[in-house]
Amino acid sequence: MSLLQAEEPDARGESRMTKETGAAETAEGRFITIEGIDGCGKSTQAKRLCEWLDGTEKEPEKEPERRQNQRQNQKKVLRTFEPGGWSGGEFLRRLLLEGSPVTSRTELLLFLADRSGHLDAEIEPALLSGRWVVCERYTDSTLAYQSWGRGIALREVEGFLDLCRFRTPDLTILLDIGAPAARARLERRGRLDRIESELDSELDKEGFMARVAQGYRELAKRRPERIAVLDAASDADRVFEAVQECVLRRLRPGVGPGRNSA
Ligand code: TYD
Repeated sequence: MSLLQAEEPDARGESRMTKETGAAETAEGRFITIEGIDGCGKSTQAKRLCEWLDGTEKEPEKEPERRQNQRQNQKKVLRTFEPGGWSGGEFLRRLLLEGSPVTSRTELLLFLADRSGHLDAEIEPALLSGRWVVCERYTDSTLAYQSWGRGIALREVEGFLDLCRFRTPDLTILLDIGAPAARARLERRGRLDRIESELDSELDKEGFMARVAQGYRELAKRRPERIAVLDAASDADRVFEAVQECVLRRLRPGVGPGRNSA
């Protein structure tokens, strides 16, 4: 069953939750971000979450291409990612992940530039049209990687983020896993990008990724109303059950766009 169909309307076509909260029925979509260190399983969970939200998890796998395309166009959920999840982002992503190392400050500014374009081109239009957005990585990545990981003062990173005035997510799911377990997953997967290769390398004895993981945990402690911490060390099915439970509990299904735009 699709989450966005989870709550039946009453006789007047209003959702129970809408009446409880008094929220307008024509609300914007909900913005969910998925965070965690490299190798935490973000992409798997983001894909499953989007399929579930869209109600397509039980669709037959081999349907004709044209129908697949039609379905894509009708999707109520935008699945996207940072860095690079917009038309101008491919170049920035390559520069950040494959380019020659830049200073930490330049790297920070490139991530912010990418986010600005991503919000303008993809995230804001989708939310304003009532679609939900599931985004792999967002501002908490910048705080955890550029401050805890790279060592830029937290107040400096927060200062840049304040200046940018990026939209705050409705819910952030932090897939929490230790750096050694994540590293083992990455190595099974194959090629490491520039940032991933810094994970616990000989050159970085304190453990870049261990610091990032710690940063995420501290961010979650500071913002418990937005950031839900889920144990990502178990198998993908169990993690996804926790993701579903978290979204149902925190986002009050029935207020979202699925009710209005089917
Ligand atoms: P990601 O796309 O998750 O890598 P992959 O596709 O290989 O799983 O993220 C790319 C890298 O960029 C990741 O190591 C985290 C880093 N990153 C930052 O350091 N700061 C940021 O603000 C963002 C968005 C990502």
